[in-house]
Amino acid sequence: MGMRSFSDLQARYRFTSSDESHLKTILPIAGENSAVFKMEFNKELVSYKRIREFFPDNEKLEKHGELITEWFLMLFSGPFDANYTKYVRSIARAHVKNGVPIYYITDAMNFVRDFCISMIDDNVELPVRSKLKRSTNRIIDMNLGILTSEHLDRYVEKRDFMQKVEGGIIRFSKRFTQILNIVLMISLVLISIGITADIIISLLKIREIGVQNGVIGALGSILVLWVMIEITDTEINHLKGQKIPISAFIGVALVAFVRDSLVSTMSIEKNYITTVISVFAILLLGITYWLVKKKER
Ligand code: HEM
Repeated sequence: MGMRSFSDLQARYRFTSSDESHLKTILPIAGENSAVFKMEFNKELVSYKRIREFFPDNEKLEKHGELITEWFLMLFSGPFDANYTKYVRSIARAHVKNGVPIYYITDAMNFVRDFCISMIDDNVELPVRSKLKRSTNRIIDMNLGILTSEHLDRYVEKRDFMQKVEGGIIRFSKRFTQILNIVLMISLVLISIGITADIIISLLKIREIGVQNGVIGALGSILVLWVMIEITDTEINHLKGQKIPISAFIGVALVAFVRDSLVSTMSIEKNYITTVISVFAILLLGITYWLVKKKER
């Protein structure tokens, strides 16, 4: 955003040389009321809930009151030039630096506006009141604009920074996931090759281990190969942007148990308890697989 020059501000708030002379006519009244202003302003600040965060002791509040009085008189005296905007901006920076919330500034400014309007009502002849009030409103709005825009600038800067950081993290994560996906694909291919080799070896050793065991061993490996194809397919679809279905994971578990019970039928010392557990697990997994698959469709 950035702060505009004083002439820009003048144009935006339609602040003219007649406003300047109107304000100068109020200056003597403001001078007479400055002590009351300081007192009332501090009373207003003390009513703010978090005020002690900013002014832990009365001494600091009193010092701020002195600065406020100076600012109050300059509302009417000017001089309204580039130095004036510099001055108000430095106040804004002091507030941002001390973490003063923006709504405290707008609340305080609202108090100032009320005070000035009452002061004009009480001390100025009726015919000139409205134009003096208009000029007062303009200089107050200009101050409000500068005092709050510093807060907004900081906010925007912070947000831009956060967005940049977030973007960087997301880009990094995406690239990292891409690499993981490649590793996964390569692993899947290597494992599939290994299983194919296992099937071939089972069949070649059929003479040594007997037809039944050889075929069952090969069948177990074929089952696993079938799961590998299923997983590879799922991964390809995932790379194309689809979600990974939960049934893929259940399928893997299911086949692992089926294969396990197949292989255990080959072993000489059969353990019936493990076989029963295996069959039971296959049953449960099968039902779950069927239910999940049904839902996914
Ligand atoms: C109309 C509204 C206000 C005006 C015109 C104003 C004016 C000023 C001025 C002139 C300074 C000194 C700046 C400098 O050191 O360069 C200042 C500082 C400060 N103001 Fe305000 N102020 C306003 C409202 C507030 C409010 C509402 C709070 C808190 C609730 C606040 C808290 C502070 C603090 C903590 C400092 C820094 C004091 C230090 O450095 O010791 N101000 N303000």
